[in-house]
Amino acid sequence: MADRDIQMNVNGLALKVNSGPGRTLLSALREDLGLIGAKDGCSQGDCGACVVLLDGQAVNSCMVLAPQAQGRDILTVEGLAENGVLHPLQRAFGETWAFQCGFCTPGMLMSCYALLSSNDEPSREEILTAISGNFCRCTGYQAVVKAVQQAAAEIRASSSGDGEQGRAPA
Ligand code: FES
Ligand code: FES
Repeated sequence: MADRDIQMNVNGLALKVNSGPGRTLLSALREDLGLIGAKDGCSQGDCGACVVLLDGQAVNSCMVLAPQAQGRDILTVEGLAENGVLHPLQRAFGETWAFQCGFCTPGMLMSCYALLSSNDEPSREEILTAISGNFCRCTGYQAVVKAVQQAAAEIRASSSGDGEQGRAPA
């Protein structure tokens, strides 16, 4: 198959990437668009380091061919902050030490963001299920659960009128 341009909406911007045979969404994001937040940990759908949102659903971008993203909405970790203000989830990860080496963190954040987009009061079990595809060898996951619950509380408070900064939950 010849190379061709793929158009997609990435973090709110209409962008074009080049697609060759077997080209993945992860490769297009990192190499064409310079969005290197999503990491290539395994290239085979096992680690979750490459998670982005595709039309609001968390996907392993190493397992999505670039042409499958034609005309669709992509959200990467670079799109979580708005106007330089971190999303509550990003702040909570920092405040609870929910990451250490950080290699897994962008994918973990995106899986958690997808969860909070549909559930602003997730239980510990729901959080663990949401991140079950995200491998992290450093945190033991407890701090991640705490971070998601802290962010969820902030998001609930902001939707009840206490004010919030950063991107609103989808
Ligand atoms: S790099 Fe995609 S799941 Fe590991
Ligand atoms: S912080 Fe996740 S692998 Fe280190």
